[in-house]
Amino acid sequence: MPAPPHSAPGPTNPKPRLPGVRHIIAVGSGKGGVGKSTVAVNLAIALHQSGLRAGLLDADIYGPSIPIMMGLRGKRPELRDESTMLPIEQYGIKTISMGFMLGETDAVVWRGPMLGKALQQFIEDVAWDDLDVLVIDLPPGTGDVQLSLTQLVPVTGAVVVTTPQDVSMADVRRAVRMFEMTRIPILGVVENMAYFHCADNGKDYYVFGKGRTEEACRQMGVPLLARMPLDEAVGPAADRGEPIVIADPDGDQSRRYKDLAKAVISAATDLGRAAESAQAGLGTFFKGPAKG
Ligand SMILES: Nc1ncnc2c1ncn2[C@@H]1O[C@H](COP(=O)(O)OP(=O)(O)O)[C@@H](O)[C@H]1O
Ligand SMILES: [Mg+2]
Repeated sequence: MPAPPHSAPGPTNPKPRLPGVRHIIAVGSGKGGVGKSTVAVNLAIALHQSGLRAGLLDADIYGPSIPIMMGLRGKRPELRDESTMLPIEQYGIKTISMGFMLGETDAVVWRGPMLGKALQQFIEDVAWDDLDVLVIDLPPGTGDVQLSLTQLVPVTGAVVVTTPQDVSMADVRRAVRMFEMTRIPILGVVENMAYFHCADNGKDYYVFGKGRTEEACRQMGVPLLARMPLDEAVGPAADRGEPIVIADPDGDQSRRYKDLAKAVISAATDLGRAAESAQAGLGTFFKGPAKG
């Protein structure tokens, strides 16, 4: 039986697709300050550098940091028409942030239905046009915003960012559980600030503990996609609006982000292979046909 037109998304109806967007990768974390936005930004650019048309949606409405990190501070998106915003392109990435609409010190105090409505509008009224992949920087934690967001759009898979401390392990488990409950496949975990590599003596220092993330991933049955070291260049680069993969394209972090992009594409392709018909080949699943 054909589905009735305009039926609401629900367990039996697929979620409405975002027009023009092939895949959505949600970047989440159990708590703030672990480097979720840093990973989202650099992953989006690394995906673009690997040949994909990539976009970035800053959905961290409580602490939108993408405008600063992408060098788009104070910018406002142009309107295509009354109800459609054009994302701002930077470093090849089509970018939208609630931060473009708010002042840097404005606090968002929306709750409940109002929040859901604002988010929905914010997501649906953007002219993404033609993207292979949209990376979403989710707010930290496992609350209402994350849940409504994951209900609003069909997420291909989630990347969960954590740091190696015990407290983060408890949070990363909660985040993984949230995605499982909302039936969003987990592509894997990124361990950020995993260790500090001392260039002077060549030693690695495990400032926040060693091996815990790997063990937690094993227990949860999710892959550990990448381990990013603490790097003194990352913070200053972000603050001046140049993500590290742009500021230091041949450096160690950039290499790791390239590998992370590959791992994300490969994990998403595996999911797609399972879901799509047997004819869908590896290359054709992730990357859309060339435009025009
Ligand atoms: N691997 C890293 N090495 C050094 N500093 C980092 C690293 N990852 C993130 N940071 C810094 O840590 C701070 C928090 O990162 P951010 O991405 O804003 O976290 P979140 O989005 O989870 O709150 C920022 O100042 C960022 O530049
Ligand atoms: Mg953030």
